[in-house]
Order: sequence, then C-alpha cells, then structure tokens
Amino acid sequence: MKKLAVIILALVPSLGLAAGGGNNPYIVDAPVNHKDVVSLQKGAALFVNYCMGCHGMKYVRYERLANDLNIPVEMAQKHFNFTSDKPGDQMANAMPEEQAKEWFGAAPPDLSLTARLRGEDWVYSYLISFYEDETRPYGYNNHVFDMVGMPHVLAGMEQELGEDEFKKAMADLTNFLGYAAEPVRLERESLGKKVLFFLFLLFIPAYLLKREYWKDVH
Ligand code: HEC
Repeated sequence: MKKLAVIILALVPSLGLAAGGGNNPYIVDAPVNHKDVVSLQKGAALFVNYCMGCHGMKYVRYERLANDLNIPVEMAQKHFNFTSDKPGDQMANAMPEEQAKEWFGAAPPDLSLTARLRGEDWVYSYLISFYEDETRPYGYNNHVFDMVGMPHVLAGMEQELGEDEFKKAMADLTNFLGYAAEPVRLERESLGKKVLFFLFLLFIPAYLLKREYWKDVH
C-alpha cells in the first residue's frame, strides 16, 4: 500500500505538467500524410528554397533524400542543391553562428531533428502562427513561439496563396521535416504492414493445427 502511494505521488507532477503544458490554443493537429510522396517532394522544394538560406539539415544527405522521395539524383542535384556539395554530402548550412545571432538574436538551429523534438503539430502550428507585431525587429511575432527571432520569411507567400493554400503548403513542409527527422519512417511503415500480413498468414495454419490437436479431446 505504501508502495502504491509512492507511485501515485511520483506521478502527480507529471500529470500536472501534461495538463498545464499543452493548452496553447494555437497548437493544432498537423494534417500530414507520411506516405504521400508528392507532399514530401513539395515540402522538400519549399525547404531548400525558403529555409536553407538560414537552416541546415545536417543529418540528411542529398542522395538519400533523392532516393527516398523518388527523385532522380541528377534532378535533385540541380533543383535541391544550390551549393557545390556532392550528392553524398550532408545538407549542412554555412551561416556563421555569431553573425546570425547578431542579425536575429538567435542562431537558426539545424532542423534535422526538430519535428521529432518539438512534434509535427508544434512545427505546423508554428509555421501558420506568425502575426504582425510592430514592436518586433522584423515586424512579426508568433503565437506558438513568443518573441521568436526568425523573421516571417513566408509572409509574401501567405498573402499570395491565401489561408487554405498556405496551410496546405505548410502541411507539406511539416511532412518533409517529419520525414527528415526520421527517414526510416517510410521503410518502417511499409514493413509494419508486411509483418502484420505475415502474422495473419501464420494464424491460419496455427488455427487449423490447434483444431486438429484438440479434435479428439472434446
Ligand atoms: C532569415 C533566416 C531564417 C529563415 C530563412 C528561416 N528561419 Fe527558421 N529560424 C531562424 C532563426 C534565427 C530561428 C531561431 C529563433 C529563436 O530562437 O528565437 C529560427 C527558428 C525556427 C524554428 C524553431 C526551432 C526550434 O526548435 O526552436 C523552426 C521550426 C524554423 N525556424 C523553421 C523554419 C522553416 C520551416 C523555414 C523555411 C520556411 C525557416 N525556418 C526559414 C531563422 C530563419
């Protein structure tokens, strides 16, 4: 009984955190489909064009990205790689940290693992939650990340596309960041189905065998 009380007491703070931490109404579900390769391709294109100027993705290599997303490697070299990096190189970023801090107040973090650390819902919500705020150096603040140093680099796109299309684009971008944080996800999900199917097949002879064995008992 004493033990039980200890366990309950130990759980109380984490329950409190769970209840108190997640109630920012701006954090919504990310409408992403991990298996939608076209969405991942669109997200990758957005990332290299609009984010890589500041952020790197050093745990992803151009070649792996091309292969995973069904893009011919030469095409990926041309459209996704604006540096002299080779296909086998990491998608690193060369922005000097000191300068970045001076410009934005914070260095742009590497985004390889962000979708896993923060969660896809957080990333998606962050991308759609910039709002005008004249007190900020670049004229924008963010409902999900208060006082963020990152300028609203997609303000023009948001205006041009309109709310629905912009949200779709941000879902693609989030989907891509989620893939980058866990590239094996594509493999794992298809493997999971095969395993389930195999188990199902295995069940049939096992069931028949069981029936055969118990036939004489009943
Ligand atoms: C002009 C430079 C710049 C560009 C371009 C840029 N960012 Fe950022 N980003 C930053 C900076 C600086 C921070 C750090 C902000 C802070 O800590 O206050 C940041 C932070 C972030 C974060 C929060 C990371 C974390 O876990 O704290 C995410 C997510 C992010 N950026 C995504 C993106 C995406 C996606 C794009 C492309 C659409 C992009 N950024 C383009 C400068 C940039």
